[in-house]
Amino acid sequence: MKPTDELKKEHRAIEIMLTILTEVARRLEAGRGADLKDLNDILEFLKVFADRCHHAKEEEVLFPAMDKAGLPREQGPIAVMLAEHQAGRELIKEMNESLEGIARGEDRAGLNFAGQARAYAELLRLHIDKEHGILYPMADGRLSRKTQENLKEGFELIELEVVGPGRHQEFHRLLDRLEERYLVHAESG
Ligand SMILES: [Fe+2]
Ligand SMILES: [Fe+2]
Repeated sequence: MKPTDELKKEHRAIEIMLTILTEVARRLEAGRGADLKDLNDILEFLKVFADRCHHAKEEEVLFPAMDKAGLPREQGPIAVMLAEHQAGRELIKEMNESLEGIARGEDRAGLNFAGQARAYAELLRLHIDKEHGILYPMADGRLSRKTQENLKEGFELIELEVVGPGRHQEFHRLLDRLEERYLVHAESG
């Protein structure tokens, strides 16, 4: 398995969470309220699984290797990817603030969360498309087999240090639970 295959697998998990997030936004917009624990869990997944783990694998391992192979971080596709990761972080921060507002019972907080959630889902979906279509094929083509092996080791280290043993599975169980609740057995309305 190529290192980019591992990243693509993570993209699939992130995309499921984006679909759940969009459904949560739709319910908030319809005035149906939200389960605070679920919102918290979703943000925790986005913070840890998507940002601190997946984006870190790209920023700390993949992009530096591509930089060494002649694709500079300061410009072109990598610079765009970095800017989008940053924009995602800002939106996560905003969703966090809205979540605190929802917990305090503030009027507009639910709608604010929904707007930020939709913006985040849109940003990340396009971002993932660009990585699949442009960036990962570049990495597959440009990086030597040896470098690609080293990338996998670097990914493993991040996985251990940031996510910790067993936590990855916990995130997948969370995804299954939320998928069941919001996508499979979602009531209409
Ligand atoms: Fe990325
Ligand atoms: Fe990615």
